[in-house]
Amino acid sequence: MVIIAPSILSADFAELQQDIALAEKAGAQWLHLDIMDGHFVPNLTIGPVVVAAIRTHAKLFFDAHLMIENPEKYLAAFAEAGADLICVHLETLKDPVKVLRQIKALGKKAGLAVNPDKKFADLQPYLPELDLALFMSVWPGFAGQKFIADCLPEIAKCRAYITDRRLPVDIEIDGGINRATAPAAIDAGVNVLVAGSAIYKAADPSAEIQHFISL
Ligand code: DX5
Ligand code: ZN
Repeated sequence: MVIIAPSILSADFAELQQDIALAEKAGAQWLHLDIMDGHFVPNLTIGPVVVAAIRTHAKLFFDAHLMIENPEKYLAAFAEAGADLICVHLETLKDPVKVLRQIKALGKKAGLAVNPDKKFADLQPYLPELDLALFMSVWPGFAGQKFIADCLPEIAKCRAYITDRRLPVDIEIDGGINRATAPAAIDAGVNVLVAGSAIYKAADPSAEIQHFISL
């Protein structure tokens, strides 16, 4: 069963409550929140204030994707704001194990993301600390980019490793996911699909969510 995590980066920020309610109603289980700082990535988005505001309107599982430098400084703020899972980028961490344990100590699920140039071997040492491994299929920063397929063989290695050892780790893919690219991601072993523009820029966003759920 695939989990679909609509990314509100492509939603209408002036109508956020409505766009989130739409995702919930269509049957999405998760909501993907893209947090960008203008340093790790060349874009700025939302912080804990907005996460806390939307938390009061949604029951969805909040999947916070932190594309920020020094994420350890903001873990408590995002936990308090209502994130259920906090995912940090390997590229931003000096001591990944310490930060992942800080997330767990806050009572939240811990995720580790890697950019499209990374291999499964880069992430593998941290699997025992993780609830979720996120493979980026675009360079982080913007919605609506073209899918980069380089992560698929790495995802397949990750899935085989997790299955062999029966590790309770979800595998998520983020970037350029749509009707055409989702099947290959699922074949490779992904069980959480993030989709932004494929959902919120579609003529019928609910139908797109339901399509992903049916995969
Ligand atoms: C990109 C973000 C993604 C983005 C995906 O840096 O991490 O979550 O919203 O958007 P799409 O699905 O349009 O590629
Ligand atoms: Zn994201």
